[in-house]
Amino acid sequence: MEKPKLTIDEMAVFCKRKGFVYPSAEIYGGIAGFYDFGHLGVELKNNIKKEWWKTFVQQRDDVVGIDGSIITNPNVWKASGHVDGFTDVIVDCKKCGSRFRGDTLIEDKLKIPTAGMPLDEIAEKLKGHRIKCQKCGSELSEPKKFNLMFSTNVGPVQGSVAYLRPETAQIIFADFKLVQENARLKLPFGIAQIGKSFRNEISPREFLFRMREFEQMELEYFVHPEKQDECIFIEEVSDYELNVLSAEMQKNKKNMGKLTIRQCLSKKIIRTKWHAYWLASMHKWFVELGANPEHFRIRQHVKDELSHYALDTWDLEYEFPFGWRELQGLSNRTDFDLKQHMEHSKADLSLFDEESKKKILPHVICEPSQGVERAFLVFLFDAYSYDKARENVVLRLHPKLAPVKIGIFPLVSNKADVVKKARGVYDELKQRWACTFDLSGSIGRRYARADETGIYATVTIDFESLEDDSVTIRSRDTTEQIRVKISELKDVLTKFMEGEKLGKLGKSVGVK
Ligand code: GAP
Repeated sequence: MEKPKLTIDEMAVFCKRKGFVYPSAEIYGGIAGFYDFGHLGVELKNNIKKEWWKTFVQQRDDVVGIDGSIITNPNVWKASGHVDGFTDVIVDCKKCGSRFRGDTLIEDKLKIPTAGMPLDEIAEKLKGHRIKCQKCGSELSEPKKFNLMFSTNVGPVQGSVAYLRPETAQIIFADFKLVQENARLKLPFGIAQIGKSFRNEISPREFLFRMREFEQMELEYFVHPEKQDECIFIEEVSDYELNVLSAEMQKNKKNMGKLTIRQCLSKKIIRTKWHAYWLASMHKWFVELGANPEHFRIRQHVKDELSHYALDTWDLEYEFPFGWRELQGLSNRTDFDLKQHMEHSKADLSLFDEESKKKILPHVICEPSQGVERAFLVFLFDAYSYDKARENVVLRLHPKLAPVKIGIFPLVSNKADVVKKARGVYDELKQRWACTFDLSGSIGRRYARADETGIYATVTIDFESLEDDSVTIRSRDTTEQIRVKISELKDVLTKFMEGEKLGKLGKSVGVK
């Protein structure tokens, strides 16, 4: 099995050709930074969100979820700092009017990191290195700050400005007290949300990597301010290994490679057990759903790079075809947000601590914040492979993520009784799994189509099936085939989907 290095543009072509992702309203020329998800894309995206919700909300006693509104009271964004500070640096071409991000121009031209670079330094570098318009080569304007929030008006009144949320997190903070009281949460606890966010990115690029409308899966984990390092789950991940790049290592240009969580904590590379726990848990989630652990690392933000609210941030990074990039940000936000919202709303967001009999303001010890579309890309990149023997792409998505789990194929399409029997099997299986019924083209062609879109197993109904009620199951990953009775089919497919080897589940009929 060959692992080709797909570029991001080739991935975009694949996604469009197979019905995963389209440029939004392409018949009108599309619109930069917006994408539509096709019939397979919507299934994959829903499966990713379902697995995240299951792991981090439903299967935990200490986390509950919410689903907040996209447009909320604009004071939320004043309190959070977004109205004043959620900006990127923009420059305009004096001749053709094209707009660019100042820091990105510098990164592209000088190949240096620009995270946290102040406006005056960006201006100096653009001028000093005579960086010109990327489109027509003309002079650029002085750089200025540009707020990334989309604004709109609420109701028929002009001037009643509101914003499309640029992150889901703030809705969690605004609803914090209600959720805590109604769900009777006791520290430490988390509140999670999955939903759309909007950022008017100056230069959306790299397909789904930087979009203007995207989805986030976020979790705010609150702890007692005086018990910030009492992580009750740390033993679960102590031996877990990660590729680590701390701020110190970046400064000294010394990469220590893989370290266990225990080592990260004993060497004080990661400050708190909770931060370490969430970093390992998020990495593990990706790996358990089939991503390749070698393509990940955790990287600490250097001082200049930290957001205004963060005491410490580690990114879970992935090696995309265009380099190592942030896949997920995990920040220690302290009590910054609750404090801000208390101040601006005058509501009391503190909790009563039974032990000390005092009011306390919890700290967000870690906020794992994951873009759904970046996870979507990671799973696709790690699943995509080219099989030389099959001369075909095989999309080896984990069965929990595969958009369609089972393909049901009558061996021939012109024999009514074979097709009827196959339909019966399809009607039965689709009650439990996402299935497809395909009778067009040769059986080889149908297998190839199924492999390319990640269908985990195919079930073929042939003439023998009419006589003995048996069918053939074929594995996408190995092409191994077994023969089983229709009465056993659901049971066998369940076990296969749970990871059992196909050869152990029925009478082998070889590899085809
Ligand atoms: N609440 C914290 C927060 O929003 P962020 O680092 O700005 O932090 C978190 O965003 C995650 O959201 C990123 O790691 C990325 O996965 C995703 N994300 C952010 N901006 C994005 C964009 N323009 N397009 C796609 N995903 C984006």
